[in-house]
Amino acid sequence: MSLIHCRPPVSLHHHHCCRRHRLPFRLPSAAKRLVPFISMSTSSQETTLEEKQELLTQVLKYHNQTKHSFTNYARGPHGLDWANQPNPFRRYISAPLLHLVHPSSDDHTTPRYSSLFNSLPSPKPISKITISQLFYNSLALSAWKTTGFSTWSLRVNPSSGNLHPTEAYIISPPIDSLCDDPFVAHYAPKEHALEFRARIPAGFFEECFPEGSFLIGLSSIFWREAWKYGERAFRYCNHDVGHAVAAVSMAAAGLGWDVRVLDGLGYEELEKLMGLEIFPEFSIPSRPVRGRMPGIEFEHPDCVLLVFPKNSGDIKVDYEKMRLALSEFSNLQWKGKPNMLSKEHICWDIIYRTAEAVKKPSTRTNELVSVPFRSSGMISESSYKGFNLSEVVRKRRSAVDMDGFTVMSRETFYQILLHCLPSGRGESGQKQGRQLALPFRSLPWDCEVHAVLFVHRVVGVPNGLYFWVRNESHFNELRRAMRAEFKWVKPDGCPNDLPLYELARGDCRELSKRLSCHQEIASDGCFSLGMVARLEPTLQERGAWMYPRLFWETGVLGQVLYLEAHAIGVSATGIGCFFDDPVHEILGLRGLKYQSLYHFTIGGPVVDKRIMSLPAYPGPSIDA
Ligand SMILES: Cc1cc2nc3c(=O)[nH]c(=O)nc-3n(C[C@H](O)[C@H](O)[C@H](O)COP(=O)(O)O)c2cc1C
Repeated sequence: MSLIHCRPPVSLHHHHCCRRHRLPFRLPSAAKRLVPFISMSTSSQETTLEEKQELLTQVLKYHNQTKHSFTNYARGPHGLDWANQPNPFRRYISAPLLHLVHPSSDDHTTPRYSSLFNSLPSPKPISKITISQLFYNSLALSAWKTTGFSTWSLRVNPSSGNLHPTEAYIISPPIDSLCDDPFVAHYAPKEHALEFRARIPAGFFEECFPEGSFLIGLSSIFWREAWKYGERAFRYCNHDVGHAVAAVSMAAAGLGWDVRVLDGLGYEELEKLMGLEIFPEFSIPSRPVRGRMPGIEFEHPDCVLLVFPKNSGDIKVDYEKMRLALSEFSNLQWKGKPNMLSKEHICWDIIYRTAEAVKKPSTRTNELVSVPFRSSGMISESSYKGFNLSEVVRKRRSAVDMDGFTVMSRETFYQILLHCLPSGRGESGQKQGRQLALPFRSLPWDCEVHAVLFVHRVVGVPNGLYFWVRNESHFNELRRAMRAEFKWVKPDGCPNDLPLYELARGDCRELSKRLSCHQEIASDGCFSLGMVARLEPTLQERGAWMYPRLFWETGVLGQVLYLEAHAIGVSATGIGCFFDDPVHEILGLRGLKYQSLYHFTIGGPVVDKRIMSLPAYPGPSIDA
C-alpha cells in the first residue's frame, strides 16, 4: 500500500499566525517570563500546574494526531517535492574550517567491539587525533552510494529516510593543532571537519568540568525530516537524537571516555551553548502552510553530552556555575551564517507547537554524573565475529530487505538482548531499571522502554510473541495492563538475569508485517520488535519535556540493536512506520500509559546489487 495515497487531503493554503515561536528580540530572562508561552521554559518552580497540564495536553495531542492507523496515515505531503529536498549538510558560511584527521579505513587501533560491554580501555588524552576518531566513528559519512542516476551519502549514525536532521557541536578546551583557545565548533560530516563558531571564555572548562573532558551538543532541524514525513517527523527527529547519543557514546567508549547527557540544563541554556540564538524568529502558523519560510530551517537544541575520561572519580556538575558562565555566551562573536537548505517549505504547525511544549526548563542545581559502570551479560562470546569497534560502527547498514531464511541460534538471540539491558549483568539479584551499562548509562533517568518481540526464526525459541521487561519495577503494572491470557513464562534456556517472557506461541510473521506498515522487513528477519514506553505516567511525573527523551531512549536501544546485528554477522533496520493502536490492541493495552514508539527488525539482509558503494572520503562533489 502506498503511504502517499492513504494520506487525507490537507489544506496548505491558509496562513494564520497564532503564536510567536521566537521573540523578534531577546528579552532579559525576567522579562521573558512575562510572555505566556515562553515563561514555561524558564524555571520549573514557576511553571504552574495549569501550565504543566497545558503542555502535557499539547504533547498528547501531538502523539495521538501522529499515529498511523490501518485506514489513515499521519498527515504528510502528498508526494515528494524533489525540487525542495533539503540539503542534508548544514554549513556555517564563512566560518573557518578546521580539518580533522582521517583515520585509516579499518582503524585497527580501536578495541574489539564486544569487549567494550565488559570494560572501557584506558582513557586517551584529548588531541586532534582522538577528537577526529570520535567523530569518524560516530557522526561522519561512512559511504557514498550510487545507482548511476543518483548518488547519496550514508553516515555512521542512521536516520529515518536518510534525511539526517541531527546536527552536532563540540564545545572544547584548547586542542593542539586545532585551536589554541577554548571553542565551540559545528561538525561538518561531508568534510569531516569542524566549523569554528566561537572562542569561549578562558576558564569555562576549568571552572565547570573535570580535566580531560569536553561537550558534544546535538540539535535538530525538523524541516529536513518533515519534508518527507510531515507531522510524524518530530518523532523521527528524536529517534535520531537517540541514535546519535548512542553513536557518540560508543565511539567515546573506544577511546576510554564516558558520556552523560547533562540534563539539568534548560532549552535556553543549550541554545546559548551551541550558538543557536542566531536563528531568526519563526512564527508558527495555525495550520499546515506551504511557502518560502527560511525561519523554519532553525536548529532546535536537543541536549549536550559531557564526555569525560573513565574512572575520573566522583564528578559533580555545578549547573549554577555553568548557567552563570553561559549567560556570557550570547555576547560572544559567533562566526558563520547558516546555509539555506530549501527554497520552499511546508510548515506542519503541530511539530513546532509540540517543540515549544517540550522545551525543558532548567531543573537542577548540581548532579553527580559519574555513575558506576556495569558490564553487560555475556553468554556467547562466539556469536561475535571479532570485529573491532570501528569496523562495526562504520560498516553498520540498514537492511532494505531481509532474506526470509537466515536463522539465529538461541544463544545469539539471548546474547543480543543481554547487551541491550540497561543495568547490565544482574549481579546479586539486582533488578533491571537503572541505566548503568554501555551505552544506556549516558541517559540520566531510569529505563522507561520495554519491547514486545515477534520471534520468527530463532532455533530453539518457539515462534511467537514475547515481552522483554527492561525495567523490572514495571513488571506487575505491565502484566496487569496486558491481555489476561498471556502466559508470562521464561522461554527455555533464557538466562536468569534476562527478563524475557513468552506471551503466546504462533506464527507472527504476517502480524508483524501488517503492524509495520506492511513492510516485509518485519516478517522476513529472525525477529522483530516494538519498543513499548511508559508514556503518560512518565510525562505526568516528570514533565512534558520527557516526551522527546522517551524517543531518545528508543533510539539508543535501536543503535545497540543495529551494532549487535552487524557484530554477529546479520543486519537490522529501524522501523518508524507502524500502526500504533493496532500494536496496543494486540497486547491489550488501553489508554496512553504504555505506547509503542519504535519498531525494529534483525535478520539476514538482501543486498541490492544494482547499488554501488563508494568510499566515504573523498566523496563525489555533490550535496547528496
Ligand atoms: C528512526 C528511524 C526510522 C526508520 N524507519 C524505517 C522504516 O520504517 N522502514 C525502512 O525500511 N527503514 C527505516 N529506517 C532505516 C533508514 O531508512 C536508514 O537508516 C537510512 O536510509 C540510512 O541508511 P543506513 O541506516 O544504512 O545508514 C529507519 C531508520 C531510523 C533511524
